[in-house]
Amino acid sequence: MKFFIDTADVAEIKDLAETGLVDGVTTNPSLIAKSGRKFLDVVKEICAIVDGPVSAEVTALDFETMLREADVLRRLADNVAIKVPLTRDGLKACKRLSSEGTLVNVTLCFSAAQALLAAKAGAAFISPFVGRLDDIGSEGMELISDICEIYANYDFDTEVLVASVRSPMHVLEAARLGADVATVPPGVLRQMYGHPLTDKGLEAFAKDWAKTGQSIL
Ligand code: E4P
Repeated sequence: MKFFIDTADVAEIKDLAETGLVDGVTTNPSLIAKSGRKFLDVVKEICAIVDGPVSAEVTALDFETMLREADVLRRLADNVAIKVPLTRDGLKACKRLSSEGTLVNVTLCFSAAQALLAAKAGAAFISPFVGRLDDIGSEGMELISDICEIYANYDFDTEVLVASVRSPMHVLEAARLGADVATVPPGVLRQMYGHPLTDKGLEAFAKDWAKTGQSIL
């Protein structure tokens, strides 16, 4: 399973990328606003930190302007993936951009029917938002299960990128279902490697090791 980091915070990305566990990054207009920085500068910086795909989202709602924005974004670096919304124009832009060899991430997916269309449109990634579905009382993970099943039936190359992840449990459930990618907020990735019993065990080992008076180096 691939791990993308869902943030536009360059310092966080640098820190987590050093672990070697980060396969890509996703941003969206809200995350860019939160960073308080210039969109194009941020994307360029992130692309230099990670080798994998960095999703940068168009903000236009119409096909022609989406293409013009995508053109600006994809010139920033070779590893930019263009994020388009799951709308009629977004799908049309996805079809065009992917036919030109550009990686496209179709975002704001909330149904399996939408995901099927994105795959037909040649998306490299489909981003179903599990947390936002859970928020309205739906079962976000059921959508992941449906999409994985449908894509497998037709051998679609589109990768299922689980988005709107709120907890390690979301990541584990997505992995159990065979999703290709989870895009996780930095805090969730940290929660995944942290465990109180690991800390407690380490403390005990350190104490006992000190009693031996030895040193490995
Ligand atoms: C990622 O591509 C999405 O933009 C992101 O995961 C949305 O997460 P949120 O629902 O927590 O805003």
